[in-house]
Amino acid sequence: MAVASSPSSLHSHSKTSVTPRHSFSSPSRGFVKILSRSDFCAFGRVRAGTLRFHANPIKVSASAAPVMDKPDSRVSTVVDVDLGTRSYPIYIGPGLLDEPDLLQRHVHGKRVLVVTNTTIEPLYLDKVTKALTHGNESISVESVILPDGEQYKNMETLMKVFDKAIETRLDRRCTFVALGGGVIGDMCGFAAAAFLRGVNFIQIPTTLMAMVDSSVGGKTGINHPLGKNLIGAFYQPQCVLVDTDTLNTLPDRELASGIAEVVKYGLIRDAAFFEWLEKNMPALLARDPSALSYAIKRSCENKAEVVSLDEKESGLRATLNLGHTFGHAIETGAGYGQWLHGEAVAAGMVMAVDMSFRLGWIDETIQRRTLDILQQANLPITPPDMMTVDKFKNTMAVDKKVADGLLRLILLKGPLGNCVFTGDYDRNALDETLRAYCKS
Ligand SMILES: NC(=O)c1ccc[n+]([C@@H]2O[C@H](COP(=O)([O-])OP(=O)(O)OC[C@H]3O[C@@H](n4cnc5c(N)ncnc54)[C@H](O)[C@@H]3O)[C@@H](O)[C@H]2O)c1
Ligand SMILES: [Zn+2]
Repeated sequence: MAVASSPSSLHSHSKTSVTPRHSFSSPSRGFVKILSRSDFCAFGRVRAGTLRFHANPIKVSASAAPVMDKPDSRVSTVVDVDLGTRSYPIYIGPGLLDEPDLLQRHVHGKRVLVVTNTTIEPLYLDKVTKALTHGNESISVESVILPDGEQYKNMETLMKVFDKAIETRLDRRCTFVALGGGVIGDMCGFAAAAFLRGVNFIQIPTTLMAMVDSSVGGKTGINHPLGKNLIGAFYQPQCVLVDTDTLNTLPDRELASGIAEVVKYGLIRDAAFFEWLEKNMPALLARDPSALSYAIKRSCENKAEVVSLDEKESGLRATLNLGHTFGHAIETGAGYGQWLHGEAVAAGMVMAVDMSFRLGWIDETIQRRTLDILQQANLPITPPDMMTVDKFKNTMAVDKKVADGLLRLILLKGPLGNCVFTGDYDRNALDETLRAYCKS
């Protein structure tokens, strides 16, 4: 089995100051600037289509020499999401739910509402309640247990959170805690943003998908019958606490779904991480704790950098959606719940990479390596048979990334780890990719 080459046995906490070097205007259409890791590091915050700089140099986390924070602490890492006054830490490591101080330092007030679901409640609610109250009996913890499933990520279920908060007379100085996967995180975050116009909020993600993606960056919300995630808010948590031990109960299919998003970071901006993943996929699938911690840390660092530069998705943040336009079409076409999000994203990334190759923007080795790594992770590399060219086209036409009737896509361009978000591509390449991956 490949060995994870992650920093281990220390509590590492690292930040890098990034000084903006240059700026340029980013047209919202036909944006073909190649975005690489070094580009991201050079940019300041993006606003309304124009890349501008933050008044202060932006600090982003980066892998650096581990530093002992607490001599007696367990193996863990801290990644900082730097958003000025809305900055927060992501704690990553095994056994973190046994370190009450990590959570308690971010609880405001004495009252906490834990939002979770029927699957996670028997597994982790007691542990979280103990972590919240250990050595601090003045804290009272309420909980609301929601039904499990994407189909419940709606207004009716959201109201159950407000019902509980209002019935138990929570006030502004309470803290909402999301304990679960992305569905719980998105709903609890939105509830926290809206309750009394905003209360404190902590994320305890328990799926790999939530640990590497949905709990980081502040996108919260619910679905509308006419579309996914259409109602929501940007709302950042006080902290994200990732106890990697919780992954031990996660079904294999859900683990693989999260790995699709991990691979995505390698493809769009982190070639070295992609290479690490190629070597360490067996360790990840075997749930090797240090391999998981490292993959989560690198993923969070990548996402934190992008979010720090473009919190509200004016441009750069859209690159996190590699494969998602094709993927959403698959999720919708196959019927929600049939294909997991990461599975659809995996097949979608294969299609985006195929199209990039047809455009002549990447060489064949990138395409082959993408297929290999996704297959290694037991992820699908083709859409389901029922997806037709028309089904793809109809769903992609209503994608959020359509601007003025032009479908903008995230495509790879250049060496591994570089991508573009652009509407400036040859339409034939898109048609050819769709025909290559659909039976009709
Ligand atoms: N906000 C964002 O930026 C963002 C990003 C990506 C995805 N999302 C959203 O996230 C959601 C998908 O998240 P997900 O993949 O975590 O799905 P999920 O929340 O539905 O969780 C998947 C399943 O695993 C179960 N589960 C969770 N943790 C477990 C554990 N430790 N042990 C055993 N079972 C466990 C859940 O109960 C559920 O049945 C979607 O709604 C998507 O829109 C949001
Ligand atoms: Zn995704």
